[in-house]
Amino acid sequence: MKRVLVLGAGIALAGAAQAAQKLGEVQAQRSPEQVYSAVCGYCHGRNVGPVIRGRGLPAEMVEYQVRHGQNAMPAFRPSEITPAELKALAQWVQTSAADPKEKGQ
Ligand code: HEC
Repeated sequence: MKRVLVLGAGIALAGAAQAAQKLGEVQAQRSPEQVYSAVCGYCHGRNVGPVIRGRGLPAEMVEYQVRHGQNAMPAFRPSEITPAELKALAQWVQTSAADPKEKGQ
């Protein structure tokens, strides 16, 4: 009986640790604006790549482009932009307004 209780507590603890880890991941996630200005904005809007904001580019297409790259654009790995960050970023790019300060290629 005692052993069963200990086992139960162990499972509960493992669950709590997992939840805490998930929470940590969510908190560490950068916002789309942060990823865009830190990574994409290095080229996009600065004459290196085409302007991608305010064009309603489909989120799936943005995700594909980021993972695979194209010509002068490098591909970005999940260790550089997490899957959750990319999902949010792609949605943001699709619905973002154009920034008049940005210039395209
Ligand atoms: C090193 C510069 C560079 C960085 C950093 C970069 N891109 Fe690009 N991107 C380009 C270039 C150059 C192209 C045009 C590629 C071609 O068609 O030859 C491009 C094309 C694209 C396109 C296709 C646009 C179109 O009109 O078809 C999308 C979408 C895109 N990039 C999204 C992103 C996102 C999102 C990020 C940030 C995670 C990013 N890029 C980071 C250089 C860059």
